[in-house]
Amino acid sequence: MTLYIDHKPYEIPSGKNLLETCLTLGFDVPYFCWHPAMGSVGACRQCAVKLYKDENDQKGRLVMSCMEPVANNQYISVNDPEAKEFRSTVIEWLMTNHPHDCAVCDEGGSCHLQDMTVMTGHNYRRFRFKKRTHQNQYLGPFLNHEMNRCIQCYRCVRFYKDYAGGKDLDVFASRSNVYFGRAEDGVLENEFSGNLAEVCPTGVFTDKTLKQHYTRKWDLTMAPSICQHCSIGCNTIAGERYGTLRMIANRYHGEVNGYFLCDRGRFGYEFVNTRERIRKPVIRQQVVDRQAVLTEVSALLKNTNVIGIGSPRASLQANFTLKALVGDQNFYHGVSDNEHDLAELAIRILGEGSVRTPSTREVEDADAIFILGEDITNTAPILALAVRQAVRQQPSEAAAQIHVPLWNDAAMRGIVQDKKGPLYIASLHTTKLDELATTTYHATPDDIARLGMAVAHAIDNESPEVESISEDIEVLARQIAQALSAAKKPVIISGAGCQSDVLMKAAANIAGALHKKNTETGLVFTMLECNSLGLAMMGGHRLNAAFNAVLNGHADTVIVLENDLYRHGHAADIDAFLNACKHVVVLDHSVHATTARAEVVIPAGTFAESDGILVNNEGRAQRFFQVYEATDVIQESWRWLLNIGCSAGNKRMNAWKNYEDVTNAMAIEEALLKGIETISPPPGFRLAGQRIPREPHRYSGRTAMNANKNVSEPRPPEDPDSPLSYTMEGYRGQPPSSMIPFFWSPGWNSVQAVNKYQQEIGASLRGGDPGIRLLNPVAGKIVEYFKGIPEAFRPMEDHLWVMPVYHIFGSEELSARSPSVAERIEAPYILVHLDDALNLQLQDGDLLTLHIGTHTYSLPVRITTEIPHGVAGVPYGFEGIPYAELPEWATTRPSTATYIPTPQPRHIKT
Ligand code: SF4
Ligand code: SF4
Ligand code: FES
Repeated sequence: MTLYIDHKPYEIPSGKNLLETCLTLGFDVPYFCWHPAMGSVGACRQCAVKLYKDENDQKGRLVMSCMEPVANNQYISVNDPEAKEFRSTVIEWLMTNHPHDCAVCDEGGSCHLQDMTVMTGHNYRRFRFKKRTHQNQYLGPFLNHEMNRCIQCYRCVRFYKDYAGGKDLDVFASRSNVYFGRAEDGVLENEFSGNLAEVCPTGVFTDKTLKQHYTRKWDLTMAPSICQHCSIGCNTIAGERYGTLRMIANRYHGEVNGYFLCDRGRFGYEFVNTRERIRKPVIRQQVVDRQAVLTEVSALLKNTNVIGIGSPRASLQANFTLKALVGDQNFYHGVSDNEHDLAELAIRILGEGSVRTPSTREVEDADAIFILGEDITNTAPILALAVRQAVRQQPSEAAAQIHVPLWNDAAMRGIVQDKKGPLYIASLHTTKLDELATTTYHATPDDIARLGMAVAHAIDNESPEVESISEDIEVLARQIAQALSAAKKPVIISGAGCQSDVLMKAAANIAGALHKKNTETGLVFTMLECNSLGLAMMGGHRLNAAFNAVLNGHADTVIVLENDLYRHGHAADIDAFLNACKHVVVLDHSVHATTARAEVVIPAGTFAESDGILVNNEGRAQRFFQVYEATDVIQESWRWLLNIGCSAGNKRMNAWKNYEDVTNAMAIEEALLKGIETISPPPGFRLAGQRIPREPHRYSGRTAMNANKNVSEPRPPEDPDSPLSYTMEGYRGQPPSSMIPFFWSPGWNSVQAVNKYQQEIGASLRGGDPGIRLLNPVAGKIVEYFKGIPEAFRPMEDHLWVMPVYHIFGSEELSARSPSVAERIEAPYILVHLDDALNLQLQDGDLLTLHIGTHTYSLPVRITTEIPHGVAGVPYGFEGIPYAELPEWATTRPSTATYIPTPQPRHIKT
């Protein structure tokens, strides 16, 4: 297709609108209401261009470029004087009520409205009257509200309500008073609310956590990072000033997270700055220096039998160096045996099977989805956002038939109305996605697995048949099988959340049965932590084997890496294990129950102070970069372990000097991690002989910021591990996609500058999206079905079958330590069915005591009819709820005790 812009021809793809095509071609066309992920509604009138009938038309007409599809041999002008004047007038009228408060606005300097104002050339305000003002609202701990800055582009409500499914933000209007907010003050409930800070082109919605320690975004030292708070591995930009982490923003990735993050990922970063950080080495409750701790631990390595326990929240590099330090035979995975087995099962199914795991972006294109067991809004939020888009967009075929393109959002909504694509959800209890589901089924994991096996059998009768299945489940199985079989791109989603292997096997059977007929079938497994798969790919023994090694006298010293073992095993077992260890060494950045038991505590860097690689739930290995050099003696776990290895004379480790050496050794030694050294360029990589700056060229104050200590400007640290510099000097063009510390382009100071980094608007970053996929299906592999079918669930008298219930806020260890997230954590509870509550003569809020093995949980009950009878749900990972290997039977009795949460240690005893 050829498009003529201001008389010059351009070859362009079809199916887009003029605005995104112009932006892809590098033209600066201003816009507000259009958003690459949400499409066009033509509300703001800012993107006008001139459209001509043909090459002879001299007059043309103004069109909104976001609403006009491209056509072959189309003639337009961006620079036509009438179009330019129109755009400038639009800005002028949008600005009539906009306050002159850029200097005190958190958005100032990174504001799309400022950029567009400058771009259109509007620079003199003629409006001389009183401006309209609004009351601002309290919206909770994540977002600040300043409604006077609103330009009525409607992006916020379109994102919050239409895209993310939120219910409590809307537009309220009375004549010229259009108001975007809640019906009344209160916490914004949607899990993706933080995106409003990036979606809103002005300073109406801004990051409240940044406001607590505000700095202009151009004054941040930034690095590309990876979210550490679930297994999806969203790409983030992390920003620091004065040694504290100030902000997490989205880092566009065409396959993983697109333009968005969830609130756990955006606001969970504050644990980095808390007082619970470990900042000094401690030996037997005495603060010591760096050399003392190296001497102590290397002596332990020489004189005692040492084992190492790894971590699903530590990087590959950290786990690998621990393994190298203690020896392959002495390395154990720091997760429960069940979690270990589930991660290995996922690797086996996705890496040795026939079905491909799709990226989150590919899930958005699914035309039928079946979720088994997983509450993805709470365990893998961005995946839930993708499912939402798939379900919303799937009925769009009707729109395609009448030639309405997907980007024409307003027309699409009119055609699609409330129709939804097929989505089947089988879960323990209600999930937020239920409102979109074709059918929901609430059952135990075993019953869901039986349904799943029946679906697989209905698709392919070579897969095992489920005996004695009830008629209604048989009907449901056939209905799901039919919808999945009719789809072009069906996706099956399950995961480790229910801690059930049969559930994952049932999901694999359905995907396998579909794959025989349709190779576009996708299978997604979510994992419990950010590097669960990476740890499992490394090889190592189970946690119980570590306990036995010590209890049987084969080892007497343990080095625990970034792991609170009390989150992965029964307290009594961990106590017995730690009591039996003569020496306990823990490397971590934050205090917890395991650091409280350690003889030696070593201060590790958080993700912000570290380089490393994580492997996400699709097997994509992704690198995060150090944002700033840590203060005191804090350094990455892998560097500590390397230093210890060298002090102890470990020959293998002696040859490794930096991140690159460790990563190269790992790529050679670990069969499943081949190629990870290619994820990002080596530290010696330079562009035009220069490093890539972590700081924008507008970074200010560096000669003065430490003047209270020393008036001469300190030399910036050198980064031995990456081609990034800690300064504002360096290469100013676009770096390789894996190393983009921030998005900026001349005239584009807001997050919208990302347009300039994409191959096409909304597609991959230039040079390809970062990371490499380590798990790929085996070509031509014959589908093999899992055989074992579990028994149907039967309630047991005087017992409840206890299942974990996940929460976006509270279930994940690190984000729960961030003050803003902590504010959103619900009080602990036990979820029970109404019939069980009646049997136990309980009312909402009464205390119920559950006994699981040696554990006793006394918590207030929450009564529901949306959980199977005979089952109880307990929040997973909440502070004060001790770990139990769930699901498990519990005996029950109402309690007269008062619920008192067990506090976590908040500091190291010295
Ligand atoms: S609040 Fe922001 S996103 Fe919403 S309409 Fe106003 S300017 Fe647009
Ligand atoms: S979905 Fe997961 S990885 Fe993505 S931002 Fe949220 S917590 Fe982080
Ligand atoms: S961006 Fe085209 S009308 Fe708003």
